Amino acid sequence: MKIAVIGSNMVDLVTYVNDMPKWGETLEAPSFSIGCGGKGANQAIAAAKLGADVMMISKVGDDLFADNTIANFSNFGVNNKYVKKVTGCSSGVAPIFVDQSAQNQILIIKGANNFLVSTDIDEAETDLKNCDVIVLQLEIPLNTVYYAIDFANKYNIPVILNPAPATTDLNIEYACRCDFFMPNESELAILTNLPVSTLEEIEYAANVLLQKGLKNIVVTLGSRGALWMTKDTKIHIPPTKVDAIDSSGAGDAFIGCFSHYLVKSGDVLTALKQASIFAAYSVTGRGTQSSYPDIEQFENFKTSHNL
Ligand code: RIB
Ligand code: NA
Repeated sequence: MKIAVIGSNMVDLVTYVNDMPKWGETLEAPSFSIGCGGKGANQAIAAAKLGADVMMISKVGDDLFADNTIANFSNFGVNNKYVKKVTGCSSGVAPIFVDQSAQNQILIIKGANNFLVSTDIDEAETDLKNCDVIVLQLEIPLNTVYYAIDFANKYNIPVILNPAPATTDLNIEYACRCDFFMPNESELAILTNLPVSTLEEIEYAANVLLQKGLKNIVVTLGSRGALWMTKDTKIHIPPTKVDAIDSSGAGDAFIGCFSHYLVKSGDVLTALKQASIFAAYSVTGRGTQSSYPDIEQFENFKTSHNL
C-alpha cells in the first residue's frame, strides 16, 4: 500500500521568541533550530515514520540545503526518486517564529517549489498510478495541484487535499473532486470569508463548502481536536490533552498520519482518531518533522495515555 505526496519541501528556520521586534528594532530571542520541513515533506515523513510506503514528488534548489533534504527523505525511507533539483534556484525556506504559548507564525519562501510542474507528474506516472492515495497541499503551483487531481481521478486514486496555505484562488470545483478536504480553522476562514471562533461558526463555514459539493471536510482545530463533516454526518474528534511546546507542523502530522491509517485500515474514523493523537504528540516537541514520533514512540505514547 503506497502513499504519494506531491508537494513542497522547505528548510525550517525556527526561532523561539518572547516577543516579535517592531520594524527597525533589534530584539534578542532565546533559541533557534534548523530542520527539514515544508508541508508536503512533513506529511510524507509523518506517514513514513509510522511505517508507510511513501513516495515524494518535489523540487529542491541547487543550494546547500538541497542534498540535505534529499538525504532526509531517504533517511526516513521515503522514495526520493522524483525529488529533482532546479538549477539556479534556492530551495524552499520557512522562517518560523514560535512564542511561549507554542503558537507559530510562518513565512514561506517557496523557491524551487514554484517549479514543480505537470511534467514532473507525467514523469512519475508508472509509479504514481499504482498508489493508494495521493496527498496534496498548496505550496506548489495551483495548476500542478489541479493536474495531480486530474491524474488521480483518471486512475481512480483517492485524493487528500490540504488547502494550506489557504488561498481564495483555489478552484472549488477541483476541491470537490478530492475525497478529503482538510483545512485548519484559519484556512477555513480564509476560504469561506466567514468567522470561525466557535464550533458552531466552524460547522456553519464547513457546511457552506459542503453545499458546493465537497465530499468530506475535516477541519483540524488544534487543542479542540478535529471536526469531520459530510453532507449528512458530523463527528467531533476530541483532542488529546498535552503540554504544548511548539505547534508548528502539527497539521501536517495530522494529515500524514491520517493518510497512513486511512490506507491501512480503510476506516475514516479510525484514521482520524490516530491522527489526532499523533498531532498531539508532535506539539510536545520542538520543530516540525523533528517532533514526529516513530511507530514505537507513538504506540508507547498511546499506552501511557490510555488511548
Ligand atoms: O505546516 C508547517 C510547515 O509550513 C513548515 O514546516 C514550513 O516549512 C511551512 O511549509
Ligand atoms: Na512540534
